[in-house]
Amino acid sequence: MTIPLFTAADIRIPTPLIANKVRRYEFYIVLKYEFNITPILFPFILQYNVHEGSGKMHNLNIALIGFGSVGQEFSRILIECEKEWAEHYGCSCKVVAIITRSKGSLLNKAGVDLKRTLREIKDNERFSPDNPDQSTLSTAEIIAHKDVDLVIEITTLNIENGQPAADHIAGALKNGKHVITANKGPIAFHYRELKQLAEKENRYFYFEGTVMDGAPVFNLLRETLPGCRVTGFSGILTGTTNFILCEMAAGNSFEAALQTAQKMGWAEADPSLDLDGWDSAAKTAALLNVLMDAAITPHHVERTGISKISIEMIEAASAEGKVIKLLCEGFISGGTPHGKVAPVAIAQTHPLAHISGTSSTLTIETDFTGRLTIEIEEPKIRQTAYALVSDLLTIAKNLDQ
Ligand SMILES: NC(=O)c1ccc[n+]([C@@H]2O[C@H](COP(=O)([O-])OP(=O)(O)OC[C@H]3O[C@@H](n4cnc5c(N)ncnc54)[C@H](OP(=O)(O)O)[C@@H]3O)[C@@H](O)[C@H]2O)c1
Repeated sequence: MTIPLFTAADIRIPTPLIANKVRRYEFYIVLKYEFNITPILFPFILQYNVHEGSGKMHNLNIALIGFGSVGQEFSRILIECEKEWAEHYGCSCKVVAIITRSKGSLLNKAGVDLKRTLREIKDNERFSPDNPDQSTLSTAEIIAHKDVDLVIEITTLNIENGQPAADHIAGALKNGKHVITANKGPIAFHYRELKQLAEKENRYFYFEGTVMDGAPVFNLLRETLPGCRVTGFSGILTGTTNFILCEMAAGNSFEAALQTAQKMGWAEADPSLDLDGWDSAAKTAALLNVLMDAAITPHHVERTGISKISIEMIEAASAEGKVIKLLCEGFISGGTPHGKVAPVAIAQTHPLAHISGTSSTLTIETDFTGRLTIEIEEPKIRQTAYALVSDLLTIAKNLDQ
């Protein structure tokens, strides 16, 4: 038998592997035999450990400020993926500190035992007094700690003024830490000053999880659309209110729909945050501040919630071939950016009409690309935690350059 001949053109990389950003490529090589028995798919496996970058390893010691649903899910992902991130992204990270409001705080420069910590929270809803990593340092002390490189701010949203999260972020940046947050408060209230501080301190400050969970919104503009100017946006950005409106359109009462949302853990403990449009206003303000260079707060966003929407209003809209959606809009008026959140009856044929349940969508209009739409289907906590991961790996990539 003769030796098989093949060329570079015959090397096929399975596309799902690329799509999944799997770096350990398995190259299936199509071998062409001389005797016209072509093509024969031969599972000839070449394993490449590709780390796209300098090959340097970046050790990032993380402090989690807040350890609720998002912090815990991030920790589960870190346990699952830490080896892969080190191998393929040159990012070796460990959580060295965790701070909560009432469950205690932990610090260990060698890395907190995340499995144990998650178990303690599951069993006792707090860190165990026997946990050897128990710490009595204050939040400010942990944020400034020499063993911390990166602070992930994931405390509760404060819709009045975005505090104390904004102070946590400013403190971290001033102490030379990179920062990631999924808390929209600081972006909705203090984005401009935090961005300027990050630039001054030469630190990275990312916040992908603040709007649309793991869907790329800020990344999309920053990484893939350089030079584009955002001229406006519209979208459905709060899953809970969209779920309630969909349930009502299906004939269920407002109260029953809200109860379901609360039972599923989608509605905030204080449901008025969603129902009165505050969550949507905070996301609208965050988008205006970041994408349209505004310096506004959620209080500047014209806001109407869904509390006054009745079944009769939904039926009347339906009779006209429309559905009611809580629409978030950003636009330029009189030369300055403005935001508006309000329930709007839109035609059933409108692209936003099909957004169902807790899904969300955003259409962004830019000067060069026209309209671009991003949609995320029924996001869960993993998608929000992934937004932190995406920011983390972006920081590791940037440190490489
Ligand atoms: N859940 C989601 O699907 C989602 C999606 C996008 C964005 N976010 C945002 O992500 C952030 C975290 O969400 P989550 O669902 O994880 O919230 P959560 O379950 O309520 O957890 C919040 C955590 O922050 C801690 N905390 C609150 N205030 C603090 C303070 N002043 N100092 C130290 N720790 C403090 C809490 O401590 P205790 O445990 O002692 O109460 C808790 O551990 C929020 O800003 C939220 O709006 C959440």
